[in-house]
Amino acid sequence: MSLLHRPDRPRVAIIGGGIIGMAIGWRLAQGGASVDIFDRASAGQGATRAAAGMLAAGVEAEPGEQRLLPLCLESQARWPGFAAELEALTGMQVGLRTEGTLVVASTRDEVELLRSNYEFQRGLGLDLVWLSGAAAKEKEPFLNPRTAAGVFSAKDGQVDNRLAAAALRVALERTGARLHEGVDVTGLDVQGGRATGVVLGDRVVPADSVVLAAGAWSRLVPGQASPPPVRPVKGQMMSLAMDPANPLLSHVVWAPKCYLVPRADGTLIIGATTEEKGFDAQMTAGGVLALLDAAWRALPGVEELPVKEMWVGHRPGCRDDAPILGPAAGLEGLVLATGHHRNGILLAPLTADAIADLVLTGRVDPHIAPFGAGRFDAARAA
Ligand code: GLY
Repeated sequence: MSLLHRPDRPRVAIIGGGIIGMAIGWRLAQGGASVDIFDRASAGQGATRAAAGMLAAGVEAEPGEQRLLPLCLESQARWPGFAAELEALTGMQVGLRTEGTLVVASTRDEVELLRSNYEFQRGLGLDLVWLSGAAAKEKEPFLNPRTAAGVFSAKDGQVDNRLAAAALRVALERTGARLHEGVDVTGLDVQGGRATGVVLGDRVVPADSVVLAAGAWSRLVPGQASPPPVRPVKGQMMSLAMDPANPLLSHVVWAPKCYLVPRADGTLIIGATTEEKGFDAQMTAGGVLALLDAAWRALPGVEELPVKEMWVGHRPGCRDDAPILGPAAGLEGLVLATGHHRNGILLAPLTADAIADLVLTGRVDPHIAPFGAGRFDAARAA
């Protein structure tokens, strides 16, 4: 993409104030752009707040997602620097934890599946270690005594996504970017076949570039020639309160049908259902039952813990479960940074660097080159 005019201080409008929009805004402001971010509700309160913050490129690598792996690994590698920079700028902690992630299995079927995933992931060059049940329980003594096997990934960890979002808000302020909340973008201003700003009802905010980072809502922003094929994928989650001095768990644990994420303050996050229910935001009895049953099978001590919170989030799911990063098809001046599905928190640092670079210089970072919007046109033509 190219900027028609290359003003000294390009004006960039970002639609969406989740972790992706805020991180891009921060990087753009650092690069000298004049940045306005528009969020239909409150920044960081959608999928960003709902997430568990797992940085798990290794154990989450699934058959069929091999192309996504280098993107995930590179962004995971950038998290420590991203977190340190954010913490230094804001004086706030973002809860990056690097003690590793454990995947566990109990029944014979579960162990077979774990073994098959482990072999697939090892085949991709990932640094994972097979553990006996006893070795898994040595790492996490409160696991179900029936735990029969585990896989340990030293490089997978977590960040506290809610703290990271709070720090990004402050980073935006400190770098002079403007966050506009409770503001609906009602259209794109298009002149001469180019996006020249965003429309807010009867007002136009002019911009040299527009970035669409509206997560699951991206397809619904009016005025796009070719809306990205992103849909909401509902996830129900909950959290329990552990004693922070004696937590039941210290690593992120993936068990059959749930994951468990312990925070430093004793919060234990249990996630998540995966449901095709559009923007439905109801917690259901079945969802809670499934989460608690899976958590209890892995970590029986959860039955004693107070319930802290329950919530629903909407992952921005794309047809091939990969994000859409790059110039929009058919509309100069519009850049897409959406469709991060299960990986929005993980992919924030790399997305921010690459999209800011694209907007400021026109360069398409090789990491994001395979994830342009054009791949869907190619699929349609085939
Ligand atoms: N990345 C975890 C989830 O989407 O539930």
